[in-house]
Amino acid sequence: MKLLLYFQFLFFIAFTIMPMPKQFEKGEKTVKILQKCAIKFLSEQNFPDHVLQLLRHYHELMTLDSECKFEESLQKKNLNLEGSLKFNINLESDEQIYWVNETKQEAYRLEIDENLNININAPNHWALARAIDTVNQLTENNEVVNLPLTIYDEPAYVYRGVMVDTARHFLPLKTLERTIDALVINKLNVLHWHITDDESFPLLLTNYSQITNTSKFWDSAYFTKQDVSYIIEYASIRGVQIIPEIDSPAHAQSWGRSPELAEMIITCGSTIKQYGQFDPTMDLTYEVLKSVMQDLNDMFAKVQFIHFGGDEASNSCFDQRPSIKQFMTEHGIATYFDLQVYYRQRQKDIWKNYVKSSKRVAYWYNKNDLLPAEDDDIIHWWGLTSQLIDVKNRKNDFILSDSQPLYLNAGVGNAFGDSYNSYQTWKDFYKWSPQPPDGFQGNILGGEAPLWGETNNQNTHFQNMFLRSSILGDTLWNPNSKQNEQFWEFTQRLSEMEDRMNKYGFPVSPFTHDYCKRHTKLCFPTLYADQEDHNIINQKPIE
Ligand SMILES: *[C@@H]1O[C@H](CO)[C@@H](O)[C@H](O)[C@H]1NC(C)=O
Ligand SMILES: *[C@@H]1O[C@H](CO)[C@@H](O)[C@H](O)[C@H]1NC(C)=O
Ligand SMILES: *[C@@H]1O[C@H](CO)[C@@H](O)[C@H](O)[C@H]1NC(C)=O
Repeated sequence: MKLLLYFQFLFFIAFTIMPMPKQFEKGEKTVKILQKCAIKFLSEQNFPDHVLQLLRHYHELMTLDSECKFEESLQKKNLNLEGSLKFNINLESDEQIYWVNETKQEAYRLEIDENLNININAPNHWALARAIDTVNQLTENNEVVNLPLTIYDEPAYVYRGVMVDTARHFLPLKTLERTIDALVINKLNVLHWHITDDESFPLLLTNYSQITNTSKFWDSAYFTKQDVSYIIEYASIRGVQIIPEIDSPAHAQSWGRSPELAEMIITCGSTIKQYGQFDPTMDLTYEVLKSVMQDLNDMFAKVQFIHFGGDEASNSCFDQRPSIKQFMTEHGIATYFDLQVYYRQRQKDIWKNYVKSSKRVAYWYNKNDLLPAEDDDIIHWWGLTSQLIDVKNRKNDFILSDSQPLYLNAGVGNAFGDSYNSYQTWKDFYKWSPQPPDGFQGNILGGEAPLWGETNNQNTHFQNMFLRSSILGDTLWNPNSKQNEQFWEFTQRLSEMEDRMNKYGFPVSPFTHDYCKRHTKLCFPTLYADQEDHNIINQKPIE
């Protein structure tokens, strides 16, 4: 019995990295790490500051000991200590980058020999972050197995992210920082920041600060321009890009709380008028929009693209203002759909010709919400992947956020305590893949799990976001690993990710009880449990 367990144990620890690297060649030797503190980060190059900060971050994770001094890890003395990790880092470019748009930018080659010499070749500091993360995972049990080891790794998708919502509940800057730290150990690389909504507008604007001041939840519950620069920098150092979103023309009640701006918003909603959308026929609307777009382009100058939201404008809301109908007649606008097209064109015109931004723009889309898109617009699809058939001829770049299963808040009830959708388990996340239907002509950049904030705040944040986002990260980095491993092997990797995240202070939701966590082979032999399994409730794949 003991022997058998031991054998299984050896089998378990063979390769439990999450996400699984693309390719590797491994030997059979196991080497103990005798001196954790004596870790060295060396290079022929001089490390610029952003690289030093990345190394410092991982040094902290790898040692978890304030006695281990990062500065000593950079010194070229005691180089041949036995049983210490010795990095030799080679970066093709040491320029600081704030985003990537090609998977090869995060590709790296990693070799570890039997003396724990670790060679890393990477195109830039983002790929270096991915490589060191792999090393961290390989070395966390105070030994390295399968030496000598060579890994060649590259993600399958360039866009791998989560969305946070700071409008329904304000999330402190620290929570955004910690979210970025959590993304990095999952090799996720996007933080989509849904900044504003009906409920609040927690970004301090230059010329319309009353929007923030009249809608923030408490005195200090807003972000400044300095906060924005800080978080973009923080994310860049760790290899994460920020995608900011200011949603309009709907989801915008918060813009109109001050008396002088009240008119630009039509409030609606069944009971408490909790929703608000722009009156797209008023000059005031565009005056404010111009300034907000200008702020957005200035504050987020370093990001790759901007999200304009654009979802869920309601006809009945427009219907409340007779002046809108009149404007439409005068301007030959036939329907509210056309009115939305009109708004979107004017917004784009401001972006390109007034703000003069060259940044691309992303919009929310689903099968019921299909406004025209320009060729370089990014379509953020919150319908199901199977429903992409409705937009199969659009050649745009797509980001997939299927409302099932990828909405992290589905099934926990809405703001009013009513149920909405059903909870999507970690297995539902596992079953999802970014596979569009035949004939689809768009280009899938990747995927993103949104965490809408009605019932999420800083206290529930990491439980809601992980481990399901870890699974999305695994799929988007290496979808093939599902074909190349047993389901229980996947759950073993997940189990170790859970431990790892707990170790680094993220209070994530456990994916199973501690018995199954220790007996993954017993509990998770196959993805679809057989009929006798009493856990079987919802075993159909999502269509
Ligand atoms: C990525 O961005 C660079 C720099 O803007 C551009 O030259 C390149 O064509 C882009 N690649 C893709 C795949 O969009
Ligand atoms: C809003 O609050 C900010 C920060 O306290 C302040 O600088 C600004 O003057 C306020 N704006 C208005 C219109 O009161
Ligand atoms: C704010 O107003 C000033 C003065 O009118 C103007 O010069 C500036 O461009 C405006 N800034 C924004 C972001 O709208």
